[in-house]
Amino acid sequence: MAELIDNAADTQAASVAEQEANSKEPMIRIEGLHKSFGDHEVLRGIDLSVMPGQVVTIIGSSGSGKSTLLRCLNLLETPDAGHVWFHGKDLVAERVGVNQLREKIGMVFQSFNLFNNMNVLDNCTLAPVTLKKMGKDEAERVAMEHLEEVGLTEFAKADVRRLSGGQKQRVAIARALCMRPDLMLFDEPTSALDPEIVGEVLEVMHQLARDGMTMVVVTHEMTFAREVSDEVVFMDKGIIAEQGSPEQLFSNPQHPRTREFLARYLKDE
Ligand SMILES: Nc1ncnc2c1ncn2[C@@H]1O[C@H](COP(=O)(O)OP(=O)(O)OP(=O)(O)O)[C@@H](O)[C@H]1O
Ligand SMILES: [Mg+2]
Repeated sequence: MAELIDNAADTQAASVAEQEANSKEPMIRIEGLHKSFGDHEVLRGIDLSVMPGQVVTIIGSSGSGKSTLLRCLNLLETPDAGHVWFHGKDLVAERVGVNQLREKIGMVFQSFNLFNNMNVLDNCTLAPVTLKKMGKDEAERVAMEHLEEVGLTEFAKADVRRLSGGQKQRVAIARALCMRPDLMLFDEPTSALDPEIVGEVLEVMHQLARDGMTMVVVTHEMTFAREVSDEVVFMDKGIIAEQGSPEQLFSNPQHPRTREFLARYLKDE
């Protein structure tokens, strides 16, 4: 695990990612994942692999375990059983800390989770400076790069409380990118937004996907799932009921629960 957490080993980590891409090894591989809260078994044996550069979206009804699965991938929840291999290391067995993992796995939440008492730029530089021990100037340079990527250069010094929901979410994405993660997790990043500003966030995510970022996205945005995903996963009551390409899953769903779920969504759209 040392090479995941050692700042000086960035180039080494990059070459691990390259090797994976060349050898067709998954960046993340989940096997037999179980998680319960009390006697409620929320994840009941999840197997899933994500290849470097892939966009995997997770869809499913409320309570099916989507957020819990995502949170197990970056150890915000501790799995009860099973394995999560990230760059070939078993995160569960090797007791990797959340802070260590935050350097390689970025996460964007529905509720932004920005630091409201700091401006945009400071939100972006905090983790690189404190966790990665990056110099302040370098951290600001990197932050400005990513703020440009999400179209918020002129808001660098703005108080985050003044921003719209869409702008806040784009700051949250830029902030995650400042850690130069290998993998980005998104948990319903547009669910708290007014419909007219959902598009600006989805467009940033789409661009990230085009740039080759490996992404796992929990979403209710079926058009995004269909257009941007390499693989779509349908979760139902703690298991993966069905998984396939967007064409397969949306045009020819096999599982009755998938059909039911999609019918409900298509009716609402
Ligand atoms: N920390 C927790 N303690 C107790 N129960 C929890 C906890 N986190 C999640 N749960 C329960 O686990 C189940 C799955 O929750 P999870 O948030 O993973 O579902 P979800 O698919 O993300 O749903 P939604 O679409 O509503 O976000 C729910 O019944 C939820 O109440
Ligand atoms: Mg959820």
